[in-house]
Amino acid sequence: MSKVIIGGSSSYVLAVKLARELNAPLLDTGIKRFPDGENYVRIDGNLEGIDAVVVQSMYLNPDEYLMEYFLMVEALKDSGAKKVTGIIPYFAYARQDKRFNPGEAISLKTVSKLIETVGTDQLFTVDMHLHRVDDMGKIFNIPAKNLTAIPAIAHYIGKNLTLEKPLIIGPDEEAEQWARTAAEHLETDYDVLEKKRLSSTEVEITTRELDVKNRDVVIIDDIISTGGTIAKTIEALKNKGAKKIVAACSHPVLVDNALKKIYTAGAYNVIGTTSIPSPISVVEIAATLADAIK
Ligand code: R5P
Repeated sequence: MSKVIIGGSSSYVLAVKLARELNAPLLDTGIKRFPDGENYVRIDGNLEGIDAVVVQSMYLNPDEYLMEYFLMVEALKDSGAKKVTGIIPYFAYARQDKRFNPGEAISLKTVSKLIETVGTDQLFTVDMHLHRVDDMGKIFNIPAKNLTAIPAIAHYIGKNLTLEKPLIIGPDEEAEQWARTAAEHLETDYDVLEKKRLSSTEVEITTRELDVKNRDVVIIDDIISTGGTIAKTIEALKNKGAKKIVAACSHPVLVDNALKKIYTAGAYNVIGTTSIPSPISVVEIAATLADAIK
């Protein structure tokens, strides 16, 4: 049974590219909002018995895109689809994975439960923000895989940016996994800094002992949201005498003038992947997704 691709409104272009990679058909959809704000979803074509792949990233308007995803998956299953694979490259709500304060919703738990309940049979995501969870099996009861875009990012950097044996930097301990992977691919060394989050938009970065004088640096993180983490990291590295600084991420969420902040801090270049369409989404992840679901 060959796969059939369906793109939600957040990821239509990525769905087209995935369909090309897999040489698979892409189904047309009718997706709109009613005047009162409700979502409407229609998937065109014969859905009976198909092996459907739904691509929907959850940036900026995660609630809207989530609702659309639920409607698409249930519509597919109700209409006879045999299997539905969800591809959610940027998985929103992953950061609220525990009750930090009494009475808080554990959003990740609610979202994952709903994704399963509507009929998702298996799920793929990319560099999910799993700082406290070491195993996707602890979040999902369906087969779920956390892919990584870091090798694709490293490949892009090696091929397109003129850097001299750059030091790879993770802004905090959690970013070590991504810094290590990028360093392996670029055959160079890496280090991590210390980050203290002061609020949802403010962070403090400490470099510890770090020799970056006259060295090119690549900062790697999973998400660039407000850009505060990267901007502060660049300032700290510049103070230590770093040369060219490139910032790279899997998910360019880019809110709150993030790019302005990062370039003002002194970035040489900022790049992200197509998990989220943005002005810096230059690293294509369609092939990474295709390889995983083949
Ligand atoms: C947090 O731990 C993440 O890995 C990112 O560092 C964070 O989401 C970036 O957010 P911002 O761009 O708002 O500093």
